[in-house]
Amino acid sequence: MPRLTIDGKVVDVREGAYVLEAARKAGVEIPALCNHEALEPWGGCRLCMVDVTFEHWDGWYKAVAACLYPVAEGLIVETRTERVTNARKVVLDLLLARCPDTPLIQRLAEEHGITQTSFARNPEQTDCILCGLCTRVCDHLGISAISMVDRGIGREVAPPFKEPPPDCIGCLACAEICPTDHIDYTSTHSRREIWGKSFEMLRCKTCGKAHITVAQADFFADRNGVPRSYFETCDDCKRKAHADIFERLGTGP
Ligand code: SF4
Ligand code: FES
Repeated sequence: MPRLTIDGKVVDVREGAYVLEAARKAGVEIPALCNHEALEPWGGCRLCMVDVTFEHWDGWYKAVAACLYPVAEGLIVETRTERVTNARKVVLDLLLARCPDTPLIQRLAEEHGITQTSFARNPEQTDCILCGLCTRVCDHLGISAISMVDRGIGREVAPPFKEPPPDCIGCLACAEICPTDHIDYTSTHSRREIWGKSFEMLRCKTCGKAHITVAQADFFADRNGVPRSYFETCDDCKRKAHADIFERLGTGP
């Protein structure tokens, strides 16, 4: 188990972890916008930059993305050097230019002393910081219904040809992982709308709650070889049924 030092705090962390995970374990906060524990790190936002060194580097430091840099025995990490702070400020200044009205970006920028961007404000209002979490979670689920399209200031997340995506199953993974709530959807007892596509909802056969879309149940039943009936009961009712069984068996809490 490698032992490293982060801002003077000594921490042991599992082999194969990245510096961001070690910092969290040590209670050191590093801002990270494109990282999510459910996904492989990507290193896209560059907000998590830190300085790293070893004793034998004789005072030489390297700036790296904490979410992508593997831990190693004896690694020394500094998260608040002038170079690191300046790098984060540039990233936040640019993000504030792209998303000047996005509360998450305003708050992070303010925490770094930036209240106004020094770049030209984006004339097109958007809350999308291009963190890629939505497209990566969609890929991770094996659906790939959306992707990044276009270049420069016009870059955005969209379905193919900006039409309702044929592969989308309406699972909401993209909307729920989005750190800025940029992805719009509506969900009622009967239908869900997202990416211009409309889905029929599946109701729990026990409580009647609309819990997932019919397309979602079909997709996961087919892909995972799970009986379709498994999806006809919502998670809450499944948990309650299991708790009732344990209670009857006398093994409950
Ligand atoms: S829509 Fe949300 S999750 Fe997707 S890239 Fe934009 S900010 Fe990130
Ligand atoms: S969180 Fe590390 S680059 Fe985005």
